Amino acid sequence: MSIPDIIIAVDGYSSTGKSTFAKLVAKEFGFLYLDSGAMYRGVTLAGMEAGFMADGKIDEEKLKTITDAGLDLHFRWEDGATKLYLGERCIESEIRGWAVSGYVSPVSAIPFVRNFVDDKLHAFARNGRVIMDGRDIGTTVFPNAELKIFMTADELVRAQRRYDELQLKGEKTTLEEVQANLRDRDYRDSHRPTSPLRQAADAYVLDNTYMTLHEEVVWMLGLLQGKFGLLESPGLSC
Ligand code: DC
Repeated sequence: MSIPDIIIAVDGYSSTGKSTFAKLVAKEFGFLYLDSGAMYRGVTLAGMEAGFMADGKIDEEKLKTITDAGLDLHFRWEDGATKLYLGERCIESEIRGWAVSGYVSPVSAIPFVRNFVDDKLHAFARNGRVIMDGRDIGTTVFPNAELKIFMTADELVRAQRRYDELQLKGEKTTLEEVQANLRDRDYRDSHRPTSPLRQAADAYVLDNTYMTLHEEVVWMLGLLQGKFGLLESPGLSC
């Protein structure tokens, strides 16, 4: 038996490794991976570059002129991965920086930004067989997704992982700052009125505090086999 063309929704707290997990699942089981958080980060970067965000404040009216004008954010498949582009420019690295992380949560709470991103996500996933990660994929964007995963992990473990990533990029932060940013984002993402981060009632919980990536993919294989029967080629390459 093979896996049918389904949508897999992966939601969860910040820095639980949703993207890493979803990317690997996409590769192992033949899905298109789409990172919805990247879209919010892309809108944030565009707004920052246009000078619409400063001193912790966002000029929503001006930001709206950008989304209304149809900001050209799209994914391209390159070197075996989906990368976010703003027009002709790959912004995959810039959107992961510390500056964007500081604004992205309030930007993502703005209803017109959510509508803009949701429309794009629906268009990208039109052909099915997609694994998409975010905060509200299983609850709002694709409430009928055939498989929903909710990821969580101990906060300090998540902060350490994110801090290590930022260190590798040469960003100057402390572990305490990173942990505070995670906590703040989780709080904002879970408490905003529009589409807050919630575990869907029918989601399977994946707590990866003490798991390796390989163990996570084995967990997923078990889940897929439980749902769709023994798969034709269950061998994993990771
Ligand atoms: O997954 P991430 O850290 O790249 O997401 C960046 C921000 O975007 C995060 O603070 C919450 C927001 N987000 C959201 O509100 N809804 C989504 N579906 C994905 C991300």
